[in-house]
Amino acid sequence: MRQHWGSRIGIILAVAGSAVGLGNFLRFPVQAAKHGGGAFMIPYFIALLLLGIPLMWVEWTLGRYGGGFGHSTAPGIFHNIGNKNRFIRYFGVIGIFGPLVIFIYYTYIESWLLAYSFFALSGKYMAATTEGAMKSFLSGFQGLEQNQFFHNIGTAYFFFIITFCLNVLVIYYGIKGGIERLCKIAMPLLLVFAIIILIRVISLGTPNPEVPEWSIKNGFGFLWNPDFSALLSAKTWLAAAGQIFFTLSVGIGAILTYASYLKKNDDVVLSGLTAVGTNELSEVILGGSIIIPMAFAVFGPHEIINIAESGAFNLGFVTMPLIFEKIPAGAVFGFLWFALMFLAGVTSSVSLAQPAVAFMEDEFDISRPKASMYFGLAAFILCQPAIFGLGYGVVDELDFWGGTFSLVLFGTIEVILFAWVFGMNRAWEEIHCGADLRVPKIYKFIIKYVTPLFLIVILVSWFIQDGLPTILMKNIPPENRTVVLVLRLMLAAIFMGISLGVWAAWRKRGKKAEKEMLS
Ligand code: PHE
Repeated sequence: MRQHWGSRIGIILAVAGSAVGLGNFLRFPVQAAKHGGGAFMIPYFIALLLLGIPLMWVEWTLGRYGGGFGHSTAPGIFHNIGNKNRFIRYFGVIGIFGPLVIFIYYTYIESWLLAYSFFALSGKYMAATTEGAMKSFLSGFQGLEQNQFFHNIGTAYFFFIITFCLNVLVIYYGIKGGIERLCKIAMPLLLVFAIIILIRVISLGTPNPEVPEWSIKNGFGFLWNPDFSALLSAKTWLAAAGQIFFTLSVGIGAILTYASYLKKNDDVVLSGLTAVGTNELSEVILGGSIIIPMAFAVFGPHEIINIAESGAFNLGFVTMPLIFEKIPAGAVFGFLWFALMFLAGVTSSVSLAQPAVAFMEDEFDISRPKASMYFGLAAFILCQPAIFGLGYGVVDELDFWGGTFSLVLFGTIEVILFAWVFGMNRAWEEIHCGADLRVPKIYKFIIKYVTPLFLIVILVSWFIQDGLPTILMKNIPPENRTVVLVLRLMLAAIFMGISLGVWAAWRKRGKKAEKEMLS
């Protein structure tokens, strides 16, 4: 028996849950601040309209279509829309590989948020009162150094195990009983937490009376005053497109799998759009109003740039705790901030785990509890390099292959298969099956020509600018190269393993069909 969502609000919250994540609260504000502030919103909204929304509809539609054939993951879905061509299903391997690779590091970072929620309440990080000390606190916690705060990685490992088990448990309980139930509680809760923090931010006024220009108002100005010259750089456009992909969870296979649990006549047009809307609200309004304006008001414009440049996590895990030490009732607000991000994280990471589990269930008839256990065991082992190799740049490397490369590549494949192999006329009909809203006609043109072309341009220019140096390890310090090379071999092995799985599944299916023919 195939699983299904219990309600419409359930799937919308699940997809929104996948979309709303660390990307909204940490990645977005930093990207916007780095690439022209308010001006960043121009390429951002163009990418939303031409890539994000079309891909969201494509994934919902393809997923629902595949579910009708009993397939929840890309290999089976591509096989069916690709006229059963025997090679097309291998493109679908990326739709299991990509989410798994993101899962490996995402869950670890998620566990830091759980830990910091506790530290906020227990006052543990209060012992670090300067930026240097707070950085040591973070490094000690991550096991990168031994210091007065932490002697080893034990605390981080403990919180990782809890976070990891929670993820597996949700998957174990299934689509309706696990994921839907989680998102129905976590999503409203995290929105409430974010709104409380937003009100606190706005009421911050001028936290340093001796420097009146460090006000929260100027903090918003710092983030949003447009610098239009940024638009002349290709980097800004790439960053905007990359952010849209990452934040909407499209182009990786996660939404594809979620949508496969829809019923044939369930609407995808309005539901998909609602999920996008929820994500954008929480990204641009909530995500864009918290860390940067707050850090500006407390630390001023120079410090904020130093901090942002000194490491990807420093704004979230160094600056924010320091701010919470300085404001009244900081323990409570600190807890709300980290808990909100933890909730946003879990509802995203379960969507990264589901494709691998669904593949085992659908293609090998493994029961859900068993598939979840196998996933748990394999993923647990695969997470270890992220935990112990953090200091060697393992997380950055995983983020590159999973969170950037796979995303854009798979998105391109998906939209081409949909518009050109499945065929735009059929696709248009399929999108509108059971729809509560008609997609504006112009999108027929956009999905067929503009989205694929836009994606190909991004893929090529990004490959030239960032891809090639990364593949050649140009940006990796020499002392890390061996570790990164071993990691790449591991990723290649995972990719081969999943491909082998696809091969075995269809071989098994072929044999079964042969037997039925003979009898
Ligand atoms: N959208 C999530 C975020 O913003 C990350 C994610 C990417 C989740 C891809 C699932 C798939 O953090």
